[in-house]
Amino acid sequence: MPASRWEGDGMAPVSENHRHESDPGRPSTAIGQVERDGSVAPLIELVGVEKSYRMGRLEYRALRGIDLRVGVGELVAVVGPSGSGKTTVLNVISGIDRPSAGTVTVDGLRIDAMSEEELAVWRGAHVGVVFQFFQLLPTLSALENAVLPLDFARRGAKRERFERARHNLDLVGLGDKVDHLPAELSGGEQQRVAIARALANDPKLIVGDEPTGNLDSVTAAEMFELFTRLNVEGKTVLYVTHDLGLAGRAHRVVSIRDGMVVA
Ligand SMILES: Nc1ncnc2c1ncn2[C@@H]1O[C@H](COP(=O)(O)OP(=O)(O)OP(=O)(O)O)[C@@H](O)[C@H]1O
Ligand SMILES: [Mg+2]
Repeated sequence: MPASRWEGDGMAPVSENHRHESDPGRPSTAIGQVERDGSVAPLIELVGVEKSYRMGRLEYRALRGIDLRVGVGELVAVVGPSGSGKTTVLNVISGIDRPSAGTVTVDGLRIDAMSEEELAVWRGAHVGVVFQFFQLLPTLSALENAVLPLDFARRGAKRERFERARHNLDLVGLGDKVDHLPAELSGGEQQRVAIARALANDPKLIVGDEPTGNLDSVTAAEMFELFTRLNVEGKTVLYVTHDLGLAGRAHRVVSIRDGMVVA
């Protein structure tokens, strides 16, 4: 199936209200477009993002004013000590979590202003998330796992969804193992299925929370090659890693400490 059949049929913006606040007339599909001052609009923009967790009477401030811009087509590594807030930052960008304060704009949409339902639909259609422990459904085959986001987004006819998922499994080198259950795959292969699943709706943004953290160094390097290839092919990629070698191969490294960007 030609890839173009899946391009340009992205879901409509969830709500006009989520347009960029500073310029309500700005189209909501603004990514890569040139701003009035000639600069390129970022794919991701966090301004003054805070996240607090209430623990009984105590409040813990996990994020303390994060400002971050990631341009279209960037490959960005996020590093920092355990507990510094890396996962929390990724989660507010991917819409898994919501900030307590500040604004999060992704692809021209104010996702911090979305309702839970809008956010779930938006995330399913516009972000591919890859986790350290793969998070595949154990009773489903590789193909059935890879097709899930397409089913969730009710994208295309059932046969087309499976064709698309099969195509993505081919892309990550698993075309010959589509019928395997996760338990019948190696760690690296399971992560490839997770990447195929993340690619399901052809998102502009791929986010990985220590996607190589549970893999041996050779498999981690292969996985990194895959992320790099996706980036070269046009995806914006943001990943958390504890591996300074892998971080150093990104275009840019963002360091987080105590809930703040320090470099
Ligand atoms: N649901 C929660 N309730 C309370 N505190 C939380 C919650 N989630 C995260 N935190 C706290 O927020 C801080 C940041 O957590 P986060 O998971 O973002 O760290 P991290 O940088 O990803 O760490 P690691 O490298 O260990 O994965 C931590 O101190 C953590 O204990
Ligand atoms: Mg984490």
